[in-house]
Amino acid sequence: MKITVLNGSPRKENTAAMVAAFVEGAEAAGHQVEVLHVGKMKIAGCLGCEYCHGKGEGQCVQKDDWQKVQPAYEDCDMVVFASPIYYFTLTAQMQAAIQRIYCIDHPPKATKAAMLLSSGSPGVYDGPMGQYRGYLAYTGLEDAGVITAVGEENKSEAKLAEIREFAKNL
Ligand SMILES: Cc1cc2nc3c(=O)[nH]c(=O)nc-3n(C[C@H](O)[C@H](O)[C@H](O)COP(=O)(O)O)c2cc1C
Repeated sequence: MKITVLNGSPRKENTAAMVAAFVEGAEAAGHQVEVLHVGKMKIAGCLGCEYCHGKGEGQCVQKDDWQKVQPAYEDCDMVVFASPIYYFTLTAQMQAAIQRIYCIDHPPKATKAAMLLSSGSPGVYDGPMGQYRGYLAYTGLEDAGVITAVGEENKSEAKLAEIREFAKNL
């Protein structure tokens, strides 16, 4: 499978460690993985102008780093949303990238999705989980799984091994 991972963290720390473990496991199982560090990109929120659904023919009127993400999202068989929790939800950078999916709407090839969440405290996932469930219901993608890591777990060998195993068995 071709897997596109969107990493919504602006840092290369906890979420990046989870993503690296995912990539290791997925590649060991023969999958092709592309990681897009959207947390470090400049992607604005959707303007709701509908240009993409008219004259734009699937392309956004705003020219920014979204143009680096769109081809990978269009071409993948699976999409993985990886993000730290910022104020009980995904990062603003990740939310902006998700909103810009609007120009494609339903991913043309992808059949599966997964989510990797990193947080400081436990029990802070209701927001992203609700959004993820809505996204799955809307797109018809199958949930491959959600893995969360809290505090010390973020870079623990046990958690990284769990993620590697998860990615090997997609
Ligand atoms: C702006 C900001 C907001 C945060 N909000 C939360 C929060 O609401 N709940 C929580 O458990 N952790 C929160 N955290 C902690 C991060 O989710 C946690 O440190 C995470 O592992 C960071 O991942 P990263 O190293 O990939 O950036 C916040 C951190 C920052 C910088």
